[in-house]
Amino acid sequence: MKASGARRVLLVGFMGSGKSSVGRKLASQLGWRFEDVDEVITRESGMSVPEIFESFGEPFFRDEEHRRTQQALNQDGVVIATGGGWATVPARLDEVPNGTVTIWLSVSPEEVIRRVGDLKGIRPLLGCADPLEKARDLLEQRSDSYSRAEHKVDTDGFSVEDVSVRILEILQANNLRNGME
Ligand code: S3P
Repeated sequence: MKASGARRVLLVGFMGSGKSSVGRKLASQLGWRFEDVDEVITRESGMSVPEIFESFGEPFFRDEEHRRTQQALNQDGVVIATGGGWATVPARLDEVPNGTVTIWLSVSPEEVIRRVGDLKGIRPLLGCADPLEKARDLLEQRSDSYSRAEHKVDTDGFSVEDVSVRILEILQANNLRNGME
């Protein structure tokens, strides 16, 4: 974090890494708000992510994702779940505002497929003949970018509760919880 006094937590990582479920849990444990960027986009547009990809194309979605994430980062007392592609643009994680704790929730491709399972329909990038292979390729391309987060938390084999507690420990170890509750 770039300054003392955490005001927001930003979760990055691949699809199925648990950003939304862990983010919601963590926010309730901190007494903070939770903002899921994909959810904001779909709520505001009245369209699903695949519909937006289909009707306006991926670049339009990426612009919208960037704009909405910036808006979320302007707030205090918030846990933010980014979409899996946001952190993959070079420099995004280096440019978060002061007071932001960045956490990479890591996950293996096999676990991604186990978790997203029949939810593939809401993730256009995995809607292909071999989603496991696609997840492997994308993860390989993206891991360097995700690793620009300050902290990495492995999620394979851990529950939402476990991961959330681990993040609370990180915040505490960095004396970041003081004054956050
Ligand atoms: C994407 C991840 C999705 C969603 C879109 C693209 C990606 O979000 O933003 O389907 O590029 O990894 P989740 O990571 O919340 O599934």
